[in-house]
Amino acid sequence: MDKAGNRGREIKKPEYLPTYVSDFDKMIEAGGIERGSTILLSGGCGSGKSMFATQSAYNAAKRGEKVVYFSFDEDPEVIKRRVYNSFGWDLYALESEGKLFMQKVDPYDISRSIERIVRGRVLDSVVKSVGHTPPPSEEVTMPFHPDRVIIDSLSALSIASSDEQKYRAYLKVLFDSLRSYNSVNMVITETEQVPERYSRSGIEEFLVDGVVVFYNIRREAVRTRAIEILKLRFSDHMKKLVPFKITDRGIVVYLEEQVF
Ligand SMILES: Nc1ncnc2c1ncn2[C@@H]1O[C@H](COP(=O)(O)OP(=O)(O)O)[C@@H](O)[C@H]1O
Ligand SMILES: [Mg+2]
Repeated sequence: MDKAGNRGREIKKPEYLPTYVSDFDKMIEAGGIERGSTILLSGGCGSGKSMFATQSAYNAAKRGEKVVYFSFDEDPEVIKRRVYNSFGWDLYALESEGKLFMQKVDPYDISRSIERIVRGRVLDSVVKSVGHTPPPSEEVTMPFHPDRVIIDSLSALSIASSDEQKYRAYLKVLFDSLRSYNSVNMVITETEQVPERYSRSGIEEFLVDGVVVFYNIRREAVRTRAIEILKLRFSDHMKKLVPFKITDRGIVVYLEEQVF
């Protein structure tokens, strides 16, 4: 027992996982995202959110992490084919090695099963090992204990949810179960090109531990891409808008450069 009377209680040291997206992690003092936290990737259509999430998923799985990518918008087959052709990233191989699991989720199925979700039967830490019987299509289940979870996107789900109250209840269950995995979680929301709010309902940004905003800013005839860390609960971070490009190596972040 120490002077303060504490019985050598173990306070768990936070663990940070890099995003592995170009120099983005250098914008964060801790060098990555704290395990157990959820960050929002927010921005307009075509601003690079899915690109960022896919690049992070690929690089993390390649380093041996277990990554789950739930896609509410695009067909995972299309994503896999596109990134293989554009960037040479072999998500097929990572999937067959059991490091990556990409699943298409129909937001209408989810919204129909919201009653059950709220009762905690779906997405409630349903941690299953690889090779188990596939779940019924409407259920979102984890194939393994994940290190990284991507939800692309909540906007698709919020559109499919007729009832705002149900959507909020769903969000709560979703965020609680994400937290329980002790993984790094990235959830995507679609906004206006220059966002005033970072999600449709405006509540997602309060539930998350960090907000990253993607911009595709037009000035006369030119558009410039930029990324900004708006908030992080677990670390200090760079405050400026940092330009980035999508190249044949994926996202490249230019820390030293200014927007315009
Ligand atoms: N191979 C590529 N080379 C250059 N830019 C690309 C390439 N593939 C995709 N992009 C750019 O990325 C954008 C799509 O980004 P995406 O991450 O899907 O946006 P969203 O924010 O809507 O998820 C496209 O509009 C295109 O400009
Ligand atoms: Mg997208």
